[in-house]
Amino acid sequence: MQTQRHQSVLTDKVLEYLLTKKDGIYIDATLGDGGYAEKILESLDSNGRVIGIDLDPLALINSKTRLKKFGKRIQIIRGNFAEVERIVREEVDVKYVDGVVFDIGLRNEHVEDPKRGFSFKRKGPLDMRFDIDQKKSAFTVLNKYPADKLSQIFKNYCDLRETNKLIFNILKARSVSPIGDTLKFTEIVMISYPKKLWNDVIPRVFQAIRIEVNNEYENLKSGLYGAVKILKTGGRVVVISYHSGEDRIVKNYFLQESKDCICPPRMPVCRCGHRKTLKVLTKKPLISRADEIEKNPRARSAHLRAAEKVEVLQ
Ligand SMILES: C[S@@+](CC[C@H](N)C(=O)[O-])C[C@H]1O[C@@H](n2cnc3c(N)ncnc32)[C@H](O)[C@@H]1O
Repeated sequence: MQTQRHQSVLTDKVLEYLLTKKDGIYIDATLGDGGYAEKILESLDSNGRVIGIDLDPLALINSKTRLKKFGKRIQIIRGNFAEVERIVREEVDVKYVDGVVFDIGLRNEHVEDPKRGFSFKRKGPLDMRFDIDQKKSAFTVLNKYPADKLSQIFKNYCDLRETNKLIFNILKARSVSPIGDTLKFTEIVMISYPKKLWNDVIPRVFQAIRIEVNNEYENLKSGLYGAVKILKTGGRVVVISYHSGEDRIVKNYFLQESKDCICPPRMPVCRCGHRKTLKVLTKKPLISRADEIEKNPRARSAHLRAAEKVEVLQ
C-alpha cells in the first residue's frame, strides 16, 4: 500500500530551538521518515552530524533512502530511545552531543496503513506495535489483560473514568471468541457509550491501548533522562508531543530538572541533594500556526517544549 509521506510538524521551531552549533552532533531520537533529520543536516555545515534512532524498521527504510545523500553525516540505528544514552555511548561511541529531539507521535503510515492496526476507521489486525518484533500487541492487551489492568490503562492513559460497561463488553466479546480486528474493537467501544460521545471516546480508547502496547510513558521518561545525561552544557533537548499525558511528563521533567532541590515542600532542610541540570526555554508549549494546521491536521495537537543543559554544580 502506497501511503503519503509523513509531514513533519513545527519544523522551523525545532531547528530554532535545537541547533546551537553548525558543526555539532545531534540526535533525532524518533527518526521516522527523516523529515527533521533532513532539515537539520541541511542547516549544519559539512562537519555537522545526525544520529537517527527509530524502533520501527519500516520507518528506517524510508529515512535511509531519503537521507542517503548526506553520506557519513547521518548514522541510522534501530533502537528504543529509552536507551538513548547506551546507544549513543556504546553503539556510536560518542560521549556528549549538542542536541536531542523527540517527536513522539505516529507517522502517517502508522495511521494510514490498516495492516499496522492503529486506525479505528480501517479494518486491520489488532497490532499497534512500533517495534514489529515485539511480542506484546493490541491483541494481547485486549484479549489477555484482566479487567483491573484494563481499567487502569483507560484511567491512566486517556483519563476515561466511566469504563465499567466498556470493560464488561470487552470481557463478554472475548469469552465467545478473541477480539480479532480493529473494527471489531471499535464496535465494542460504540456499544459501550452513547453515540454523542463516540468522536471523543473512540480515539482516546485506541490511544490508551497504543500507549500500553508500546510502553510509551515509561520510554519517554527514560528517554528524557538519558538525553539530559548525554547533552553537553549548552546543548538542547526539544520534545514534540501530541496529547496531554505526554506533554505533562515533559513539563514535569523539565520543571524538576530546573530546580536545585526537589524535596517535598514541607521538608525544613534539603535532603535530596538534587542539582539542576536544565534551564527551561519554553515557559508555555509552542503550538502550530493556523496555516500549518490547515495543511496538516496532525499539527493541531502538537506541543513543543525545549530546555538547555546547564553546568551541573556539585
Ligand atoms: C512522529 S514520528 C517521527 C517523524 C519524524 N520526526 C519526521 O519528521 O519524519 C515518530 C516516530 O517515533 C518512533 N518511535 C516511537 N516510540 C519510539 C521509541 N521508544 N524509540 C524509538 N522510536 C520510537 C515511531 O516508530 C515513529 O517512526
